[in-house]
Order: sequence, then structure tokens, then C-alpha cells
Amino acid sequence: MTIFSEKVAIITGAASGIGRALGEELARRGSRVVLADVKKDQVNEVAGKIQKTGLDARAFALDVSDFDAVNNLVTDTVAEYSRIDYMFNNAGIAVGGEVRDISIDDWRSVIDINLYGVVNGVQSVYPVMVKQGYGHIVNTASIEGLVPFPGTVSYAASKFGVVGLSTSLRLEGKELGVRVSVVCPGYIKTAIFYDSKMVNTDREKVLKHITKMPGFTPDECAVAVLRGVERNQAIIVVTKMAKFMYLLQRFSPNLMSRFMRWSSKPLKDARISD
Ligand code: NAI
Repeated sequence: MTIFSEKVAIITGAASGIGRALGEELARRGSRVVLADVKKDQVNEVAGKIQKTGLDARAFALDVSDFDAVNNLVTDTVAEYSRIDYMFNNAGIAVGGEVRDISIDDWRSVIDINLYGVVNGVQSVYPVMVKQGYGHIVNTASIEGLVPFPGTVSYAASKFGVVGLSTSLRLEGKELGVRVSVVCPGYIKTAIFYDSKMVNTDREKVLKHITKMPGFTPDECAVAVLRGVERNQAIIVVTKMAKFMYLLQRFSPNLMSRFMRWSSKPLKDARISD
């Protein structure tokens, strides 16, 4: 028995990477998982694999930036299971490139999915959890939601938003029995770096730099996230490097800015042209 046994958990962005690993790990620990993703075939495949092992999983195809779709997901889940214990608002995208190169549409897609995707999840599930008097919302931000990150400014803006939303809602939810945590991973080896749009940026150079860094696998990340959820941590920072960066930011924001200017130089060098 684990605290996740017999619980109902919704996970968005569950077709790949961290979301997929969370879905699989939660199912292994006895949760009934509802997996949602914009990639219909892939999310069906993930749910199918879990079902084949005799565990409980369902798949939903949706775009988290569509409030009605997310709200339907929550309504259907309550209708099916009569409760929701966990909502992992995890789906996300990134756009790489300096602000002088990206467009307003790039900003919109990042904010719509990464920030409004979480807002839509919260706004749909929070009233249900308040009514129940229990529930735990777990939003995926990033270390980029805690420290400045040149080269992915729109992404950092969306993730700072997710951290602010989560840490603030945590205080409102406390008296109502609703827990809120925010996950801030460092480098996790997922498809996001291959799938992300990169503007005026040499992808090969970026990938060469990123894949040299020490990071976690999605499975290792899922285990770390669930440990933080079990402990009801407000901010779940994943990977040693991310923990170091968060510490440095709190100790000396000036030193952290210098560190970031130095450590992001390879990304700056990956810029193609003026
Ligand atoms: P991933 O690309 O492997 O998985 C993201 C999933 O979200 C994909 O299955 C994708 O189809 C889905 N998705 C994208 N847009 C969607 C939309 N509009 N509606 C529904 N689903 C959508 O990437 P990864 O790394 O697993 O990312 C998961 C979360 O973790 C994201 O929020 C990301 O920003 C965050 N993160 C990832 C880090 C990393 O190093 N991989 C580090 C810090 C945060």
C-alpha cells in the first residue's frame, strides 16, 4: 500500500517524458490514472500499455490551452470515479531563441500552453477539490521558474507564472483541505529539446551543449516528484544542479546572474545571425 493506492490522478502531457513516467509510476503504485495529451495516438498507446499490465488507465486527447476541453476532462473523471485526488498539470512546450528573434505568436503559444494550460487545470479541478475537502494539485514549472534564464525568456516567464500561481494558491487552499505543489526540474532527458521550436538558433549546437549536462531520466524525475508530493512540499526541485541554482539565487541573485551569463554562453553562441 502507498498513499497513491486507490487514488484517482489526472496527468496532462502524459504521452511523453515526465508526464508519461508519472502516469506509469502512479499506476504501479495503485492509482487509477487519467492520461491527457494533445498527441492522441501516443497517449492511447501509453494508457494501453498500462492496461495490459492489469492496472487502471484511461486516455484523453485534448489541448490544455482549451479551457472547455480541460473542464470536460475533469467533469468526466468525476462522473466516472466520483472523486479526484491528484491533478498533475504537466503539459508544456518551449521556444528557444532570443527575444529579439522570436515573435508575438511564439510568446502566445508558450503562455497559452505553459501558463494558461495550468490555469485551465486549476480552474477546473480546484472547485471539485474544495467541495470534496481534499485533493492535491501538482503543477510542473521548471528551474526556469525560479532563476533567470536568457535564451528562453518566454518559457521562463510562463514558468515564473506557474510558480507564483502555485505558491499563492497553496496558501488559499490550505484551510480548504486542498494541497498545491509546484515541480521545478532541472535537466530531464526528454523529447522536449528535440520537439521545441528554436528560432534563429542552431539546434545541433544547443543539443550538443544540453545533452552533455548531467540530468535525470523521466523515471527518476517521476520518483523524485512523487516523493515531494508524499511530503507535501511546496516547491519540489529536481536534480542536484537545479537545487544548487535555486540555492545560489536565494543566497546571491547577483552571483546567480553572473553564473547564468557564463553558463548560457553556449546557447548565445548557437544564435545563427543578425
Ligand atoms: P515532453 O515533450 O517529453 O512531454 C510534454 C508533453 O506535453 C508531450 O507529450 C506533449 O504532446 C504534451 N503537450 C504539449 N502541448 C500540449 C497541449 N497544448 N495540450 C496537451 N498536451 C500537450 O517534455 P517533458 O520534458 O516531459 O515536459 C513536461 C513538463 O516538464 C513541461 O511542462 C516542461 O516545461 C517541464 N520541464 C521539463 C524539463 C526538462 O528538462 N525536460 C525541465 C523543467 C521543466
